[in-house]
Amino acid sequence: MHMETPWWRDAVVYEIYVRSFADASGDGVGDLTGIRQRLPYLSELGVDAIWLTPFYRSPMADGGYDVADYRDVDPLFGTLADFDALVSEAHAHGLRVIVDIVPNHSSAEHEWFKAALRGDGRERYIFHDGGELPPNNWQSTFSGPAWSRSPDGKWYLHLFAPEQPDFNWRNPEVHSEFLDVLRFWLDRGVDGFRIDVAMGLYKAEGLPDTPPEDQAFKAESPIWGRPEVHEVYRRWREVLDSYPGERMAIGEVWTDSAEDLALYVRPDELHQSFNFAWLEAPWSATAFRKVVDDTLAAVTSPTWVLSNHDVVRHVTRYGEGLPHSTKGLARGRAALLAMLALPGSAYLYQGEELGLPEVTNLPPEARQDPIFARSLGKLPGRDGCRVPLPWSGAAEPYGFSPDGARPWLPQPVEWTALTVERQAGDPGSTLSFYREALRARRALRGSLSDGVTWLDSPEESLFFTRGSLTCVINCGVAPVPLPPHDRVLIGSAPVDGHLLPPDTAAWLHTS
Ligand code: GLC
Repeated sequence: MHMETPWWRDAVVYEIYVRSFADASGDGVGDLTGIRQRLPYLSELGVDAIWLTPFYRSPMADGGYDVADYRDVDPLFGTLADFDALVSEAHAHGLRVIVDIVPNHSSAEHEWFKAALRGDGRERYIFHDGGELPPNNWQSTFSGPAWSRSPDGKWYLHLFAPEQPDFNWRNPEVHSEFLDVLRFWLDRGVDGFRIDVAMGLYKAEGLPDTPPEDQAFKAESPIWGRPEVHEVYRRWREVLDSYPGERMAIGEVWTDSAEDLALYVRPDELHQSFNFAWLEAPWSATAFRKVVDDTLAAVTSPTWVLSNHDVVRHVTRYGEGLPHSTKGLARGRAALLAMLALPGSAYLYQGEELGLPEVTNLPPEARQDPIFARSLGKLPGRDGCRVPLPWSGAAEPYGFSPDGARPWLPQPVEWTALTVERQAGDPGSTLSFYREALRARRALRGSLSDGVTWLDSPEESLFFTRGSLTCVINCGVAPVPLPPHDRVLIGSAPVDGHLLPPDTAAWLHTS
């Protein structure tokens, strides 16, 4: 029997960093009503689903990834009623809704942690008597030691900021709490979850000292990727499967190998995990080909992603660090077209459809990412990819907030040229290109093969086919001749039918 493809398998999902998408209330911070007002924009863009970063009650020590109440909306973002309205309106627009869930740690303001500090229920977190020195040498992902002291002198573990104490997943109470949180949001109609730090949760018994090079956020180590975590996702899968309507989960899994990634998407675990391999690859045909081959060999439900709220925007990465480079933008558009041609689903990050670059010159006093403060300004942190979107007009707040309000991060003057309003009517804009590419992908949906076939291609270019579609990308410095085809379906830049310019990709139709 041929089963119908579940929606998520080839969906295009748009990440909304809620604080920076659209502010309806006028406090300079994005909110749920702002998203509701922009749903027509998203459906016109042509995405299938939205993923909302955390909007739960939070003191915002890490932009909301420090959750104080997993079952409520922070007043900064709205109310539960606003959330319900958002879900039903999104569904009416044909958009699925994925929400973030943060199981590795809570906020220090969570009721459980406040109780723990009073000596009540400490076993829900990772406390250690210790002495004068921290119990082991683990470092926080955000710089500095991974241990802080509670007022009575005990140490507690936080793999991120001190305001984000790690849960103790060896305590069954933590399991039942999260199963209940999943049901809370599933009952409200969400279509799926994005699991924050999905390879975290368990720490090796005995909390052994670990060489610094093995402590990196992505390494297999006593800190990350413990085998016990898979049992958690098996139980979560049972809950998801007990609801109608193809509810799904995608894990944030940083790892060096596609085989590791595959462990999280075994048939009884998560539906998807983020595949950060392309995002981490340099601009190179050889590197891209290896990423595709390794991924497709290991994972049956592949995903692709170029940018998110934690990394330097890809236009800037591909432009060798220069914020406004023509080369970076051309490469970004080409990479998007290549990824949209691959089997699986694609995750877009808000603003990439406008070709937004990283904002590299935010003043130190504006920076809010804890990475900046904890590294004593040595690391810029992630604010540069989180600057509020420019919607319209010729000056801040560019329609992000009502006029007169100041966005929580300053927007560059160069963004006058990049607003949705300016780009929507310009057929050569990056926004028009994204709309056209997503339309072209929809038109091909269901007609392409599951795998890719490589064609011979000149050095530093890649040609692959999926049935009648041939995708070509040129990462080199000279134009390359196109393979035989009937017509060009779409190009990331103008393509004349014979030669593919450098830093360009195209989709060709062949019969
Ligand atoms: C994830 C999030 C990131 C957050 C961290 C801690 O990596 O994407 O933004 O800071 O987890 O929750």
